[in-house]
Amino acid sequence: MRTCLVLLAATAAFAQSQSIQFDATRKVWLLTTSQSSYAMGISPEGSLLNLYWGAPLWRIADLPAAVQRRDVSSFDPRQMLENEEFPGWGGPRYYEPALKITRDDGGRDLVLHYVSHRQQQDTLDITMKDIRDDIEVVLHYQVFPQYGLLRRNATISNRTQRPLTIESAQSAVWNLPAGDGYQLSYLSGRWASETQLIREPVHQGEIVMESRKGHTSHYANPWFAIDNGNASEENGPVWFGALGWSGNWRITVEQTAYRQVRVTGGFNSFDFAYPLAPGEHLDTPSFYGGYSRDGYGGASRLLHRFERETIVPGGLQSRLRPVLYNSWEATTFNVTEAGQEALADKAAPLGVELFVIDDGWFGARNNDRAGLGDWVVNPKKFPNGLKPLIDHVNKLGMDFGLWVEPEMVNPDSDLYRAHPDWVINFPGRPRSELRNQLNLNLAREDVKEHIFNVLDKLASEYNIRYFKWDMNRSFAEPGWPEAGAANERKLWVAYVRNLYEILDRLRAKHPKLEIEDCSGGGGRIDIEAIRRADEVWTSDNTDAFDRLRIQEGFTQAYAPKIMSAWVTDVPNMNGRSTPLATRFLVAMQGALGVGANLNKWAPEDFALATKMIGVYKRIRGTIQLGNLYRLASPRTNDVTVNQYVAADGRQSVVFAFRHSQQYNTAAPTICLRGLDEKATYKIEGLDNKLIEKQPVLSGAYLMNRGLNVNLRGDFDSTGVILEKQ
Ligand code: GLA
Repeated sequence: MRTCLVLLAATAAFAQSQSIQFDATRKVWLLTTSQSSYAMGISPEGSLLNLYWGAPLWRIADLPAAVQRRDVSSFDPRQMLENEEFPGWGGPRYYEPALKITRDDGGRDLVLHYVSHRQQQDTLDITMKDIRDDIEVVLHYQVFPQYGLLRRNATISNRTQRPLTIESAQSAVWNLPAGDGYQLSYLSGRWASETQLIREPVHQGEIVMESRKGHTSHYANPWFAIDNGNASEENGPVWFGALGWSGNWRITVEQTAYRQVRVTGGFNSFDFAYPLAPGEHLDTPSFYGGYSRDGYGGASRLLHRFERETIVPGGLQSRLRPVLYNSWEATTFNVTEAGQEALADKAAPLGVELFVIDDGWFGARNNDRAGLGDWVVNPKKFPNGLKPLIDHVNKLGMDFGLWVEPEMVNPDSDLYRAHPDWVINFPGRPRSELRNQLNLNLAREDVKEHIFNVLDKLASEYNIRYFKWDMNRSFAEPGWPEAGAANERKLWVAYVRNLYEILDRLRAKHPKLEIEDCSGGGGRIDIEAIRRADEVWTSDNTDAFDRLRIQEGFTQAYAPKIMSAWVTDVPNMNGRSTPLATRFLVAMQGALGVGANLNKWAPEDFALATKMIGVYKRIRGTIQLGNLYRLASPRTNDVTVNQYVAADGRQSVVFAFRHSQQYNTAAPTICLRGLDEKATYKIEGLDNKLIEKQPVLSGAYLMNRGLNVNLRGDFDSTGVILEKQ
């Protein structure tokens, strides 16, 4: 026992000394994870310069000290060639700054030099200060050695005697090796078409991804991946990052005239003005970065594991996501006790574990024109409150979930009539309604307390296991009159911080309560949002074929475990009809839910759904906690294939979908990944479409020769389960 302890201690000390090394003589740091290294140093004049970001290094002595470069010309100062870790806007610097301020005398020059540093285990804080006054920035670095990731953010403090205003506050600048030919991957989209993966060359100038909408936004998601132009799904170098901020954010990918490739991310500087009185400070959001040699798939798997184990509530201890039924598409606003109970009676025998009633249960909410803000149970729809329904659901063996949209108010509501000043607004200007609703101003302390109390009351009064927390519009006229003209743009930050606080307090007070993060689908998904959400509503678009691309983009950055995916009825919003089996197989690749109108289902639909939910329960550990290999992309192939391999390697599941067969062509052979070449696997097709009839195949055969599936016609699909023997 004693020997073991000594050995363990030695291993821990080794890991620790490996994650952050410092060479005090040359003032160089080397931060190392299982997948990557990151190096920086202090130049003779005191600038903190990036020296390296890429595959793991082990020898700090290999790294050169940070040097001061020479100006190339009077138009090309040395600063343009030096990769500063966190450049202030000052001196001759013409790229995207990490920090831009205005002093009360109008002075805006800011040049940050090293002051001191502090290292504790896997964290490193480097204090920088302006060369003239006491504007201080602490750069925080946290290394996650086993996850292959680095977290960065900054604390900006006004230690002068005079007020100043921050105009741009970023979390980090990530510098790639200087060069040409890089390719950027990013996620763009819109409502009902979120997380569309786009790839394009990095070029001289800026490519900006951002939200100006007050929430993370459907238009872009705060994630990037950059490769050398030759990476593929499973091979090649990929530098990637994800920013955790659920409000206005910006990631700027920039290539300078000298081929420096820089990624700067943090608060969106658009409409940003954050005053700091003497003694005040501002923390910028966390920006996570990593490097993988294993292509985009390798980068995704690093993020998935990190999120599952350290970001989502409960991390490693969190339960597998239950199979959910949501009644929204069945009943919309027409919810009644009897109607919901009838649906619950039909959902339970399918194997559903969580029954969620959506919009329409409260206030005068008979359509989307009234009632938001009045979180009292509608007495006509539920004369005895929600308790009888919840008891009914619980008796059927299911947990109960409830839809809420706490940040919103309809002008036609008791809350708005009582507190018209509680919404975001500019006095005397229009209050633009979207979906007939306005945003409550969560930055106000009274509004924050009110929202917390409403939700706390619901969660205390009823046996609610799950809130679907929705947010169905973007900001407009973002005023906060009570804060005063100088301070009102703090709204962009204060709103989001108070949202986080409400969620954190609610979860702390009701530890079993789970939250689904929804914003008209995937309008508020980012690392900091998922820190407070057990799952997220990926998109209001549940068309099985559209979902393949949405899910491909989603899984670039986010773990399948939290990717809510429902089976709904057809024809859907595209007017498209896909087979029920295909809809199930698409949705089974994340956190499975059913959102169909069970009142209209035929007996064979119930039979198929019961079978598929049974299969899902057998494989969900692999889907939710395993490694995802995106074998064929819906962007570029007629046949889409995804494979999941359990963390312990014992099970693997393959999903294959065909969009539309042409010219009688066979579906391509599927070569699997992540298996043990030497092992054998029991092969089980979920239907009769698997061409191989051998009941057992070796890992070597499966990965090198591959499987063939008979996918015919339009929107055909199949699944194969492999159990290691
Ligand atoms: C949003 C959500 C839907 C549903 C409706 C209810 O659109 O994304 O899932 O909850 O609101 O009004």
